Amino acid sequence: MSASIIEGKKISDLIRVELKDEVVALRERQVVPGLAVILVGEDPASKVYVGSKEKACQQLGIYSEVHRLPGDTSEADLLELIAKLNGQGSINGILVQLPLPEHINEKAVIDAISVEKDVDGFHPESVGNLTIGDDSLLPCTPAGVIELIKRSGVAIAGKHAVVIGRSNIVGKPVAMLLLRENATVTICHSRTANMEELAKQADILVVAIGKAKAIDSKYVKPGAVVIDVGINRLPDGKLAGDVDYEDCLETAGYITPVPGGVGPMTITMLLQNTVAAAKRAHGIEV
Ligand code: GUN
Repeated sequence: MSASIIEGKKISDLIRVELKDEVVALRERQVVPGLAVILVGEDPASKVYVGSKEKACQQLGIYSEVHRLPGDTSEADLLELIAKLNGQGSINGILVQLPLPEHINEKAVIDAISVEKDVDGFHPESVGNLTIGDDSLLPCTPAGVIELIKRSGVAIAGKHAVVIGRSNIVGKPVAMLLLRENATVTICHSRTANMEELAKQADILVVAIGKAKAIDSKYVKPGAVVIDVGINRLPDGKLAGDVDYEDCLETAGYITPVPGGVGPMTITMLLQNTVAAAKRAHGIEV
């Protein structure tokens, strides 16, 4: 039997329709969610991402402002802008597009964003809140992974989830979120001795290692849910995930394609975080 395809684009579109209704209702109460995005320099991929975020906000009626700063902007100037946005009532979310130029300390910048406005969920306090189970804004890609699993009708509680990859942006937070959903969680990484054996025990396999087609059907238990967070550019210009999609199609029970799987969910979760931050700022229950 062939796997069910988890259509991230469709699920993402559906959530955006729900969010749009929510923004309309908030606007009727004079609450306009606002997102500030800061882009330093001219990284081509970052420019595309920032443009997509701006467009998505417009489509939902979320106020957005993009601060495009030159590549030689000083860290002090960037921190000053963040401090200003932290104090600005019309702004509920602040996102500094990464990577930053080398002369700027990424940690200092992330730490400067007020935790209530940390729509990326990268601030140490947000990470701590997630870990101890307090309310917090969740990192977008990991939150998107959980939504995809839930909206595919797959129960997470009691399942064995194996996460391959331990980055601060995806691997670690996705593992924490799966744990919060009552999965039994194993984290594998480049130094894991028996990765294939562990992965093969997974009911839910999440792969975020940044290596094209590294995980094939040998790693997949028949019927498993396979979530591919990777987006890699192949020499022929095509995009491929970290999972060998074609090879896993027969073995997996559910699988995300690349593109059109996890990717579209990241901006959608950013929009969701911005709406949630606006509600919290106005004392409205999330
Ligand atoms: N660059 C690539 N992905 C991301 C992300 O999720 N957030 C930010 N701020 N920058 C990124």
